[in-house]
Amino acid sequence: MGMMERIQEIRERMIRQLDSAENRQALEDIRVSLLGKKGDLTALLRSMGQLSPEERPAAGQLINEAREHMTELLEKRAAEIRAVEMAVALKRERLDVTEPAPLPRVGSEHPIHLVMNDLVECFTGMGFEVLEGPEVELDHYNFELMNIPKNHPARDAQDTFYVDDNIVLRTHTSPMQARAMLTRRPPIRVICPGRVYRADEVDATHSPVFHQMEGLVIDRDVNMADLRGTLNAFARKIYGEGIETRFRPSFFPFTEPSTEVDLTCAACHGSGCRICKNTGWIEVLGAGMVNPRVLEMCGIDSSVYSGFAFGIGMERIAMLRYGISDMRLLYEGDARFLGQFR
Ligand code: PHE
Repeated sequence: MGMMERIQEIRERMIRQLDSAENRQALEDIRVSLLGKKGDLTALLRSMGQLSPEERPAAGQLINEAREHMTELLEKRAAEIRAVEMAVALKRERLDVTEPAPLPRVGSEHPIHLVMNDLVECFTGMGFEVLEGPEVELDHYNFELMNIPKNHPARDAQDTFYVDDNIVLRTHTSPMQARAMLTRRPPIRVICPGRVYRADEVDATHSPVFHQMEGLVIDRDVNMADLRGTLNAFARKIYGEGIETRFRPSFFPFTEPSTEVDLTCAACHGSGCRICKNTGWIEVLGAGMVNPRVLEMCGIDSSVYSGFAFGIGMERIAMLRYGISDMRLLYEGDARFLGQFR
């Protein structure tokens, strides 16, 4: 067999093999067996020594041309295989971006926070400053400066969580009154929203953790009418026009006189319903004129200044506003419930 025929035979073998090669590995095997160091075409090149010197250049050229051609054939087939692989991958990894996807759950503000934000907006609009303080509080602020000395019966009424003899979980936001007076000069107008703690059993209207918002105003000539006017403005801002306040005499050691404040029941507008137990009124806060003893203990001259304070129960407000009948719902963290108050 002459050189030409042998080259041609190798080339045709490659064309046949390429036809049935389906992947890159098959191509590589073909390349190695024909063009590789021990491949057939390379062997042919090596056998050129047997040719006469005149024949060699022409034969060398033929082999080199064949090598180039065969390399091209390999690359062409490799490109075809890549195209097929790409088409298969695209089909397999197909993504339908128009297919409806489950919506991610979006969080929502907690009803207590919605109420708190409204109250803060209402009072800052009237010139109050927002002050926050510790939930783990010194007995001194929580009780002593609020005119509740050791052995005072009001301590029992508050079912205190003691951390140690001198430290409690604050039972109300009233210690912030003392903290405000001790760090500011009159005129003082502050509100202090936050969590408070009492060792109460959990039921539909009680929780060991709940929220209050304290209010405190100290200035010259502050009187009970100022307290009434401020609370009327608050009631109308939160529940709308036509809401009245009703003051009932009460007792707190830190205010004198003291009062429980009722608002017109927003559910029935005062005509009487299940929510207000047919009274037409809902109790939402305690208030009073700051006891002069408290002013003096907190470094304020009670012969020059007077003030009022109030403490609003935020759960109460939220439950009334949103028609929530069981306080436990506020603390269970059920997203289906909480998502309704967006
Ligand atoms: N601290 C009182 C309570 O927790 C509420 C209150 C605050 C009363 C301010 C009067 C003045 O019940």
